Amino acid sequence: MNKTATRQPKLGVCYYPEHWPESEWADHARQMADIGLSYVRIGEFAWSRLEPNPGQYEFDWLERSMDVLGNAGLQVVLGTPTATPPKWLCDQMPDMFAIDEEGRRLGFGSRRHYDFSHVGFRDECARIVTKLAERFGHHSALTVWQTDNEYGCHNTTYSYSPVALAAFRNWLAKKYDSIADLNRLWGNVFWSMEYRSFDDIELPNLTPAEANPSHRLDFLRFSSDQVVLFNRVQVGILRKLSPGHDIVHNFMGAFVEFDHFDVGRDLDISSWDSYPLGSMERRVDVSDDHKSKYLNQGDPDFQAFHHDLYRGTSNSRWWVMEQQPGPVNWADWNPAPLPGMVRLWSWEAIAHGAEVVSYFRWRQAPFAQEQMHAGLTRPDGSPDIASVEAAQVAREIAALDLNVETGVADVALVLDYNSIWMSNIQPQGKDFDPIAICLAFYSAARKLGLSLDIVSSDEDLSAYRLILVPNLLHVTDSALGSLAKTESLTVFGPRSGSKTHHLTIPDALAPGPLSALLPIRVERVESLRPGIEIAVEGGSVSKWREHLQLLSKPDQQRCADDGTPIAVRYGSRTYIAGWPDDALLSAVLTNLAHAAGVPTHALPDGVRLRKMGDKWVFVNYGRSEQDLSHIIKQQQILMGDGPVIPCAGVLITTAA
Ligand code: GAL
Repeated sequence: MNKTATRQPKLGVCYYPEHWPESEWADHARQMADIGLSYVRIGEFAWSRLEPNPGQYEFDWLERSMDVLGNAGLQVVLGTPTATPPKWLCDQMPDMFAIDEEGRRLGFGSRRHYDFSHVGFRDECARIVTKLAERFGHHSALTVWQTDNEYGCHNTTYSYSPVALAAFRNWLAKKYDSIADLNRLWGNVFWSMEYRSFDDIELPNLTPAEANPSHRLDFLRFSSDQVVLFNRVQVGILRKLSPGHDIVHNFMGAFVEFDHFDVGRDLDISSWDSYPLGSMERRVDVSDDHKSKYLNQGDPDFQAFHHDLYRGTSNSRWWVMEQQPGPVNWADWNPAPLPGMVRLWSWEAIAHGAEVVSYFRWRQAPFAQEQMHAGLTRPDGSPDIASVEAAQVAREIAALDLNVETGVADVALVLDYNSIWMSNIQPQGKDFDPIAICLAFYSAARKLGLSLDIVSSDEDLSAYRLILVPNLLHVTDSALGSLAKTESLTVFGPRSGSKTHHLTIPDALAPGPLSALLPIRVERVESLRPGIEIAVEGGSVSKWREHLQLLSKPDQQRCADDGTPIAVRYGSRTYIAGWPDDALLSAVLTNLAHAAGVPTHALPDGVRLRKMGDKWVFVNYGRSEQDLSHIIKQQQILMGDGPVIPCAGVLITTAA
């Protein structure tokens, strides 16, 4: 459960002193402080400048830059440079490069060119982190350490290399009692896939037909554990040599290749890099119409979803480490935010409890890969639009004398990485995207004005009044325990409980262990090509549909137009036997929210609300202004002009 956090939010920026003449540093620092920024993240890609030759440490420049920032009253977030091993190191250990699924070895010349399983490289990381912590662990400007940068970015979580293979075999040998056990649990009798020893096991790539799903799942679990281990080595060093400083890592959006709850447990703070326009352009699960409608604003729920997710991964302490400031360089198309959107994104993060919103980056680089990526200032140093908006946010935070208190939301959404991996390994329908179904549930709830926490499946759920479980394919004993214990209204999505730990079908069919809570049996599932919709009372289902056997009469049900049940409610639990559209979800959730005594709000198109302690924060992602007078009645308006919220506007009121 998310803890209550009360803090004054701060702003920050990502900065690369090594990109600019030292004579300009003091000026940059002064300008940052003038805008109202408090934190500056540096260092995370600077290995070649920190150790230009093996064992030759050149740390003085970094110390001078930290002095300059500290003298301007700024606090430093120091990144470990392990995402960018220098050329000499790669030449020393050429087998440290990851090998991709197609068997191609990745090369030098960008970043993240390492294999998480390479013990020699991990030792090299431990060495440079130790040296940095010894030198800077007590520097007066140092506040927070960031480990590495965006684990897994550029498809680098999985490696199909000899070192990964050796580590995978060891991992399996620890997990299974015997090779016979593994063969049985994976079902290796199928297609004569049986192994005679752990040393025979292959990696699940380059097979003519798909590899065994159980094998693939264990490989994903193994790969996730390798990330956890890699991070833990650095965390251990930093805790020992630089006690008293928080440790953070910057996660990404729509990225599920490792279990973020597992990595988050080792951190003090989770953060993520929020690029609303870039990430929407890249999504394949939303329509072109939606992309056009929100071209310059971003999807109204995508950012909030990740704020709530990452808040849940580290005990409610979280930041936005990189906030998009203008057009980025890495999507197929890179539109510019509408005026006001950088401010809106910042406020939305604060409303979800962000301790810090840090913009990426201070000054747009005129050289190298990201020269087309905007910053707070332009390549010539002149302020870009985002710096004006950041300054406005800083003034507004100060004027409101704000302390953010997130508390526990009314609604929980359960997100489980193992289930996500299972869905991805075996989608059964091409467009069955587990994150998309989580987002569909999340978005439907948000459109009703509900505030959510996103929690892992082991979480104690008793404090929530409404629980959404969109994609829990595998129900562990502890998840079953929490779900059985709570009397809160709970709604399960399709495929719930449909797989065992080893990605096989449960003996009594789906919903597997959940049949203890829901007297149903899933007799058949079918996936549906785009354009096929099955009308259901109150909406429709598409993509996926299940045929249920009801073992007792439900308290309520919504049927498809052929009379077969799709949404069934037994006491506090509802099961939806298909991929629901927004209308059906909205109907089901409205009904349940009212039954749970959680108020819903009729938010106009594009407007979202986040309840933040004793305040309500409204944001308008739409292109037209919206009148909120039907929602804001007795409340006092603390920020914004009257009950009308403009396009890209933010309105803050007292709670009702
Ligand atoms: C992030 C990354 C940054 C920068 C940024 C550009 O993924 O952490 O270093 O590349 O994207 O948008």
